[in-house]
Amino acid sequence: MKVISDQSLPEHIAFLSPQLVDDVPEGEAFWLSYCEGRLALCQPKKIGPIVVDFVGGKSRHRRLQGGGKGQAVSKACGLVQRRDLDILDATAGMGGDGFVLASLGAKLTSLERNPVVYSLLADGFYRLNQATDSSLKAIADRWQLLNQSASDYLAGSPKHDVVYLDPMFPARKKEKAAVAKEMVAFHSLVGADEDADALLAPALECARFRVVVKRPKIAPLLAGKQPDLQLVGKSSRFDVYTKAKIVAD
Ligand SMILES: C[S@@+](CC[C@H](N)C(=O)[O-])C[C@H]1O[C@@H](n2cnc3c(N)ncnc32)[C@H](O)[C@@H]1O
Repeated sequence: MKVISDQSLPEHIAFLSPQLVDDVPEGEAFWLSYCEGRLALCQPKKIGPIVVDFVGGKSRHRRLQGGGKGQAVSKACGLVQRRDLDILDATAGMGGDGFVLASLGAKLTSLERNPVVYSLLADGFYRLNQATDSSLKAIADRWQLLNQSASDYLAGSPKHDVVYLDPMFPARKKEKAAVAKEMVAFHSLVGADEDADALLAPALECARFRVVVKRPKIAPLLAGKQPDLQLVGKSSRFDVYTKAKIVAD
C-alpha cells in the first residue's frame, strides 16, 4: 500500500518507507498518510481517515468513565474475577478491545498479521507510549504488540491465562451509520478471516483458564464447537470455552 508523507517516517513505522510516494495515488482503493505525527488510512470515498487513537476521542471518554469495567469483553475474559490476567489478544485489529482489557489491568500481548492494520495499531501504540499521563503510560507498560500471525505464534506452544479471538466475519450488506462505514472499509481492506476456525484448537492448548471468541450475534460457532457459556449482546456475542476456574487473588 502506498504511503504519502511530508517527512521521513519515524522508526516505529519505518518499515513502510519503501512504499513512500509524493502524491495521493490515483486509482487506489486505499492509501496511508503520515501527517502531523499520525498515521491514517485514507480512501477516495467520503469516509474520514481512520486513525488509531488510544489517548483522545472515544478511548479517553471510556477511560474517564471507568475504562470499560462493565463491558461484556471484560466480563467474558474474566477480569471481573481477577484484574491482572495475562491475556493473548490473538486478532488485535485496531486494538479497541485490547485497550479496554489493558486499561482494566490485564497484561496483554496483541497479535496482528495484516501489515497495514499493524502499522496503524503500532502508530496508536507509539502515541500511547508518548503520553505524559501516568495511567496511560501504565497501560502501555502492560501491553506488547507483535506483527505476527496467531497460528505461527501459537505453534510455539506459549501459555497465557486467557486467549481472546475476534476474527473478521463477512460484512453485512445494509450498513448505514458512519461508524459502520468505517467497518465496511476495514472489511474490504482485511477481508474475511476464512482460516479462523483453525485457531480454536491451538488457542485451547494455550489458555490456562479460558478462550473467548467474539462473533456477530447471528454467526455460526467458531469451528462448530459449542461453548460452555455465551454472553449475548445487541449485535455480537462472546462464546466462552472454559478450561479452569479463575480464582480471585
Ligand atoms: C475484527 S478485527 C479485530 C477487532 C479488534 N478486536 C478491535 O477491538 O479492534 C480482526 C483482526 O484480526 C486480524 N487477524 C485475523 N486472523 C489473524 C491471525 N490468524 N493472526 C493475526 N491476526 C489475525 C485481522 O487482520 C483483523 O485485523
